[in-house]
Amino acid sequence: MQKPTIAIIGPGRAGSALGRALHTAGYTIAAIGGRNPDNVRNLAAELGAKACQNPATTIDLADLTILAVPDDVIVSLATDMVESLCSAAEKSAVHLSGAQDRAALRPLAQASLRTGVFHPLQTFRRGPEAVGNVAGTYFGIDADALLRDQLMQLAGDLHGHPFDLAGVDRALYHAAAVFAANYPITLLAEAIALGTAAGLDGKTAGPGMTALLAGAVNNLRDLAPAEAITGPASRGDEGTIERHLEALKKDPELQRLYQLLADRTKHLTSNKEAAA
Ligand SMILES: NC(=O)c1ccc[n+]([C@@H]2O[C@H](COP(=O)([O-])OP(=O)(O)OC[C@H]3O[C@@H](n4cnc5c(N)ncnc54)[C@H](OP(=O)(O)O)[C@@H]3O)[C@@H](O)[C@H]2O)c1
Repeated sequence: MQKPTIAIIGPGRAGSALGRALHTAGYTIAAIGGRNPDNVRNLAAELGAKACQNPATTIDLADLTILAVPDDVIVSLATDMVESLCSAAEKSAVHLSGAQDRAALRPLAQASLRTGVFHPLQTFRRGPEAVGNVAGTYFGIDADALLRDQLMQLAGDLHGHPFDLAGVDRALYHAAAVFAANYPITLLAEAIALGTAAGLDGKTAGPGMTALLAGAVNNLRDLAPAEAITGPASRGDEGTIERHLEALKKDPELQRLYQLLADRTKHLTSNKEAAA
């Protein structure tokens, strides 16, 4: 299958990472569009693309336009794009949001473009390092038939794993992704603050707790969560849990959160024992 030429609107975290990875995979990045002229110009120059300061006009320059903009901007951008569209022939557009379905691109679908969702189930930071997370990513796809095939190939060319997002409850699915990628970081920040309050110095609390989390993630490479989890709640060390709760009593909210997580952890490991 011939590779479509690509336009990316939004040279932010996800747009830059995917743009760089697609460029490396041999795709022509025809245009970069966006809001901040410097960001648009810099990514366009790096990827050999045309810089479009008016994002809505980007769509006429490529076969497939990727809207890599904040979720709340997708509908209004899609509407503006229709206004400035010269021809819809053979053109497609996707957004990258896990929380929104294809309805967000309805204005483009009504203008006869093929539309779809191409959601990287991944976390991208700012900067060029983010491209390192692309390979191995699971890509959720929900699109018109012909576009779907193209997006499956695109995911494969990125060394990713395509999967079907059609019929998946987006709010629940996206909440699941937030649990996997965002809240562990919130919990790590709490762990670093607690470590510091306990008397660790700054050089140890952050790197030490981060190395601990990295070890836990590493264990998950070939173990299910119920197998990989360690600690007092999974061992049934009630005395240790009581001492932790006592130590956390100055922060009742965090104490409640600890208790909730301990209960969920006991549930997780007791389910494993029941299944064994
Ligand atoms: N980052 C992730 O880990 C991740 C993972 C999976 C999916 N996604 C999805 O990817 C999409 C982008 O997220 P992100 O994290 O990459 O966001 P981001 O880093 O904030 O980047 C958003 C980009 O959109 C541009 N933009 C904002 N408002 C715009 C407008 N009105 N018109 C044109 N361009 C506009 C921004 O321009 P400026 O240069 O002016 O800021 C920026 O380049 C979202 O749908 C998100 O759900 C993100």
